[in-house]
Amino acid sequence: MMPSAAQLAALDAADPLSHARDRFRLPPGVVYLDGNSLGPLPAALPDRLAQTVAGEWGEGLIRSWNDAGWIDLPVTLGAAIAPIVGAEPESVVACDSVSLNLFKLASAALAMRPGRRTILMEASDFPTDAYVMQGLAQLAGAKLKRVPRAELGAALDDDVGLLLLTHAHYVTSQVHDMAAMSAAAHAAGALTLWDLSHSAGALVVNLDADGADFAVGCGYKFLNGGPGAPAFAYLARRHWDAALPALTGWMGHAAPFDFAADYAPASGARRLLTGTPPILAMRALEAGVATFDGIDLAQAEAKSRHLVQLFAAGAATLPGVTVDAPPAGRHGAHVIIRHPEARRVMSALIARGVIGDMRPPDAMRFGFPALTTRFADVGLALETLRAVLTSGEWQEERFAPKGMVS
Ligand SMILES: Cc1ncc(COP(=O)(O)O)c(C=O)c1O
Repeated sequence: MMPSAAQLAALDAADPLSHARDRFRLPPGVVYLDGNSLGPLPAALPDRLAQTVAGEWGEGLIRSWNDAGWIDLPVTLGAAIAPIVGAEPESVVACDSVSLNLFKLASAALAMRPGRRTILMEASDFPTDAYVMQGLAQLAGAKLKRVPRAELGAALDDDVGLLLLTHAHYVTSQVHDMAAMSAAAHAAGALTLWDLSHSAGALVVNLDADGADFAVGCGYKFLNGGPGAPAFAYLARRHWDAALPALTGWMGHAAPFDFAADYAPASGARRLLTGTPPILAMRALEAGVATFDGIDLAQAEAKSRHLVQLFAAGAATLPGVTVDAPPAGRHGAHVIIRHPEARRVMSALIARGVIGDMRPPDAMRFGFPALTTRFADVGLALETLRAVLTSGEWQEERFAPKGMVS
């Protein structure tokens, strides 16, 4: 069913998170539904970066490593991310990419489960997670086993050392029950590593309370840290001393500035750090994370779910598309609409100012981050999609595929 403009206006008027949109700079005339790949620009970010460049770097020079707290940014920023993922502050650091952090934590997990050589993951999870595990498995003499979601429990045999799961699936938006899966893995003697790329900032996440062992997540999606923003990594307190990643560097050393000949791990999550932190990118991520100040993530999750469901129900009435029905109960903040010429349709939508992303061959993905999306945007996006589909505009030559859409 198509939502009415009056219904959407009433929902916006009652939305307790509507004020959060002012924390961003969104171009006029654009309906930005690509929150899953790159969050929008936080309004405070340009000034913060300019001050870092001109003041901390330009004036402070090398002194800023101490005076401006640069050297501790991976830790202070990690502490700022921690409440967003339900972790104690010292268990999270901001560093490197999701891919690198996956390698570090999975290698630590394998070393903590000698005799167990299987890394278990879901077959359809995001490719880089599997690519990293394949490389690690080769190096560590382990093997990667990928099974459908429904077979994960049965596949937890006594050779599995690590269960790697994506909390909210990048296509289906299905959400795992973190407490239940962690308990099942632990009962089978395995550790858990969670990819929170589509969860951090979109869903309520309780890493500590739900028994997660390790987690990673990205800074450029819902955390609004900018293109290629640093990622984060989580190490549960009970593993602070035991976890030893195979990728070690001086920033994770107990005393980096002693320049000792041999590696000795820092305590806690700090040992997950490797090289010199990218300060400009860290400051940008800091501004992105600050957009969550005072935000109730339960409200954010509920709002995104409502937006997704309204959009999915409206899209289901449009000609020529099929909607992947959002999973019952909890789900991520995005939905997939399929069309055989998805790339062309998305190009035509983008030309009209409605920006989503697409995944070949036929999926258009629309994300509904709670901080920036208005209920009215659902109506605007649906009307635009209807216009593109019914006019056949997407067939025009100018929308012929030319490389990446987004
Ligand atoms: C679930 C998931 N994991 C990992 C990544 C990418 O990892 P990286 O930041 O290392 O490129 C993505 C990117 O979209 C993702 O959706």
